[in-house]
Amino acid sequence: MKRDIQKILIDEDVIHKRVAHLARQFQRDCIDNGIETVTVVILLKGALLFAADFVRHLDMKIQVELVNASSYNGGTKSSGVVALDRTPDVLNKDVLLIDDILDTGLTMTTVRKQLLEAGAASVTTCVLLDKRVSDYSCDFTGFDIPNEFVVGYGLDYQGHYRNLPYVGVLNPSCISI
Ligand code: XMP
Repeated sequence: MKRDIQKILIDEDVIHKRVAHLARQFQRDCIDNGIETVTVVILLKGALLFAADFVRHLDMKIQVELVNASSYNGGTKSSGVVALDRTPDVLNKDVLLIDDILDTGLTMTTVRKQLLEAGAASVTTCVLLDKRVSDYSCDFTGFDIPNEFVVGYGLDYQGHYRNLPYVGVLNPSCISI
């Protein structure tokens, strides 16, 4: 599997330090805003590893909701349509919405809107990677990265590579056109 990776963009240690820092920042913000309990909405499947590490740095009460959102359908280009399997119960709750990567921003903005329409008291957005393509910026961002298709630490190509501990660029020869 490792030989399919052209280059490592962000290595494991750097990811873990940044995730811990982001979580501490988020918790400080909650304290400043008088928020004691947060509903963490995790977008599957890509944000699973990031979110699992992130929440373990939070010393506060949380609830977890998993939502399946997909716009890539296994390939390397967004389909332009975001499909959600369900809207979690977020009525009057302060929500932290976590995704793996911001590309066009369609997924984050669509899901955020749905959660507000479902009655969330607030929705804070958090993403591990931002390709800097969208005008939209999340409230918390791990890393800005070049506009390349990346895999690892939860991100996949055709369902593979999620278990790599780092974020890397896939060898073009591994991408079927
Ligand atoms: P949008 O365009 O909605 O895209 O901001 C965000 C969603 O698209 C997927 N995505 C990727 N998945 N490598 C991946 O494995 C990538 O480089 C990549 N870029 C976007 C991802 O599911 C994210 O939720």
